[in-house]
Amino acid sequence: MDQSSQAIPVTPDNAIVWHNNRLYLLDQRYLPHQTDFVELNSAQEVAYAIRDMVVRGAPAIGITAAFGVVLSVMQAGDHWRDKIDADIKTLAASRPTAVNLFWALSRMRNKIASFEGDHIIKMLLDEAKAIHQEDIDANHKMGALGSALVEGKTRVITHCNAGALATGGYGTALGVIRSLHANGKLAQVYADETRPWLQGSRLTAWELLQDDIPVSLLADGAAASLMSGGDIGWVIVGSDRIAANGDVANKIGTYSLAVAAKYHGVKVMVVAPTSTIDMEISCGKDIPIEVRESDELLYCGGKRIGASGASVWNPVFDVTPAALVDAIVTERGVVLSPNSEKLAQLMA
Ligand code: MRU
Repeated sequence: MDQSSQAIPVTPDNAIVWHNNRLYLLDQRYLPHQTDFVELNSAQEVAYAIRDMVVRGAPAIGITAAFGVVLSVMQAGDHWRDKIDADIKTLAASRPTAVNLFWALSRMRNKIASFEGDHIIKMLLDEAKAIHQEDIDANHKMGALGSALVEGKTRVITHCNAGALATGGYGTALGVIRSLHANGKLAQVYADETRPWLQGSRLTAWELLQDDIPVSLLADGAAASLMSGGDIGWVIVGSDRIAANGDVANKIGTYSLAVAAKYHGVKVMVVAPTSTIDMEISCGKDIPIEVRESDELLYCGGKRIGASGASVWNPVFDVTPAALVDAIVTERGVVLSPNSEKLAQLMA
């Protein structure tokens, strides 16, 4: 850890920090055992950090890329116009599925297009900070809306990490879970470990425990058995991209969780800001799904676990059809039993 980042408190809400004209990211590759910040000074470094999962989670990737645009201009000085398009392209190529990345870059591009005057860095920095703050505000709104959907005290299952670490702060799915806890409505939260990157056991569990919210870990394959006991009220997850018809892309394993939930009469809540809704994609099959390296399955904690010679298919997201989703919670309101008409109305 460098001297400057030692001043930054390590909390899940501080995973993306602009400090002393640099961007600091809490390195999520090594949480919970190491809590170090990575210092970034260029758009290339930011693109690498997104690609390599130093930062991850749809809204967090968008916010980080916005700060990457600021770093591009700071680094290029008077020559920023020569570099900016290429740097934005590099940032956009870092990961394909979360639409928040492209949404945030498009907001930064619009600012650049409207720029006249002398203070480009200040203008872009203000926009990146606004994107960050708006995301935090949206999460608090969604937390209250999602919590209001739940009647009585309930047990919930969540998948991956859709918390403060994956957003500007507070979280989407974990924002609702935080609100349920604050309102005395959370009987128990189960976190799927979320193979292969273990966002559930490493990140969600760490984050909830930082807030003194007890959490039980589940092997991904245990969720259906748990539901069959009849004591689970809701599956609550985030999303990386929602198509115009309400189909939901999220971390691999969300689809099987939703299928099991439907079978057992458990409700499914997807919590995502409107920056995650892609009205240009009509249905889930057109959402680009990232496929990552085989090593993520063949190795665990740096140790080889897969038999040598085995081939690997490692898609890291899947699509849950809208028909399996009971509610999409956004900062603009809740859509029950989502479909094209309802989403068009929400986004109008
Ligand atoms: O591969 P990741 O860790 O970036 O995937 C993250 C997820 O799938 C989250 O559930 C999603 O981005 C929503 S985060 C609020």
